Amino acid sequence: MDNKAKKIIIAIDGFSSSGKSTMAKELARRIGYRYIDSGAMYRAVTLYALDHGMIREDGTVDTEALTAALGDIHIDFLPCADGQHTLLNGRDVEQEIRSLRVSSSVSPVAVIPAVRHALVAQQQAFGKERGIVMDGRDIGTTVFPDAELKIYVNAPAATRARRRWLELQQKGDKDSTYEQVLENVMTRDHIDMTREESPLRRADDAIDLDNSDMTIEQQDEWLIDRFNHAVGK
Ligand code: CDP
Repeated sequence: MDNKAKKIIIAIDGFSSSGKSTMAKELARRIGYRYIDSGAMYRAVTLYALDHGMIREDGTVDTEALTAALGDIHIDFLPCADGQHTLLNGRDVEQEIRSLRVSSSVSPVAVIPAVRHALVAQQQAFGKERGIVMDGRDIGTTVFPDAELKIYVNAPAATRARRRWLELQQKGDKDSTYEQVLENVMTRDHIDMTREESPLRRADDAIDLDNSDMTIEQQDEWLIDRFNHAVGK
């Protein structure tokens, strides 16, 4: 790519397990931009809360304790051969944050305004130089309302749950059932859409993508076309 070309911000939002991360990562690789998985940041905070006893038996979060601890939570990304790994206070937690244990608690953590403010500020700092692809729920609406390219990804819950269940199976998780994953996907959709602070919402200027019937290669091509169009190629 021409290095002198104007660098833009690409915001990819959408429902859980909609394939956002896969397409965002591949686009970033192809165009030489930085990729940030904002969901991984919410997942890392959730892992911290779980490990420090801030999530009660009934699934509710000790908001006060977590808010007080936010200054002690440092999240970073380490470039690796297979993309990048999430670091929580210097520890590689990439595997752990993808578990159903973390998925089951992440949405209640992500509703907490103090958590959102801290992570949104860090996400905006990552994008200061532009040249970034970020995926999440509120990237095109709250984090980068001025992003030059915004995509809103959706597919039916059953399709998304099947993808995520297969992914967990491939990673060696033989315990989680498809029904558990579907239930988690539907619960998170609901919490993510109905929370007060920056809920999952399509930005008015976003381009819709329903990738139910697309292969990974097809969605990658679709996205690169949108990118080329956005930068005037
Ligand atoms: O990969 P998956 O779609 O399962 O989820 P994720 O992108 O890793 O995000 C995990 C959770 O973090 C979501 O269900 C949201 O509750 C929360 N999240 C958020 O609130 N805002 C974001 N920008 C990204 C994630």
